[in-house]
Amino acid sequence: MGIDESRDASIGVEHLDKNEPCFTELERFVVTTLEPLPDEEVMDSFAQLPDDDYLKEEWVFRKRAYARGILTEAGIEWHPDTDFFQSREINEYAGDIKRIFAPAGEVIRDYTLKLLRGPFYRHFLGNGRYHFGLHQIRIVCDGQHEGHPVPEGYHQDGFDVVAIHCFQRDNIIGGKSFLREGSPDGPCILENDLDPGVALLFNDHRLYHYATPITSRTPGLGCRDMCVLTFSLIP
Ligand SMILES: [Fe+2]
Repeated sequence: MGIDESRDASIGVEHLDKNEPCFTELERFVVTTLEPLPDEEVMDSFAQLPDDDYLKEEWVFRKRAYARGILTEAGIEWHPDTDFFQSREINEYAGDIKRIFAPAGEVIRDYTLKLLRGPFYRHFLGNGRYHFGLHQIRIVCDGQHEGHPVPEGYHQDGFDVVAIHCFQRDNIIGGKSFLREGSPDGPCILENDLDPGVALLFNDHRLYHYATPITSRTPGLGCRDMCVLTFSLIP
């Protein structure tokens, strides 16, 4: 069943069927599970991520890599550069800075392509052409430090659709994802922990997203591994 019309903020996980909206019809959001699940090599690739050099805090709570390209039915034509820019209007924390991230590795790029070729995304994307972005991110915390998935607070990213795929929640409390409609203070329409294997896709024009800080459940390191996929239709 389609769930993007739901107003239930404590919504669970649903599988898609043929009646799910495709890209241009996604009014709010979809929560789904995706296959194939990542193998050990994909999971290990998160441990190789370098520090995010653009944080303002001393404690480096985010590790990341990035790739972008043009996505079509034929696959992804990856761009050689990994510079990333958001205006300050969109990102108060790190806007108006040209950020050059480490390139996402082949393992996560290949796995992402497998997901995009799976039944859910094939139906969702149809035969469109898209500007596509892949952010592979690990947020870390320990007994003394929180990890901040979204230091900028409720925000939009400046794309048509954003997808947040959860890979792992290891020894953490928090890291709950939220969506609000219309403005950063608008009504909350989703609150979800996003368990591993779950993907949240939402309309980035209408909705604002955020995730709460993480803290360690038991003493020691904790982490939240995600991939953020961004899509903008090429007219
Ligand atoms: Fe975002």
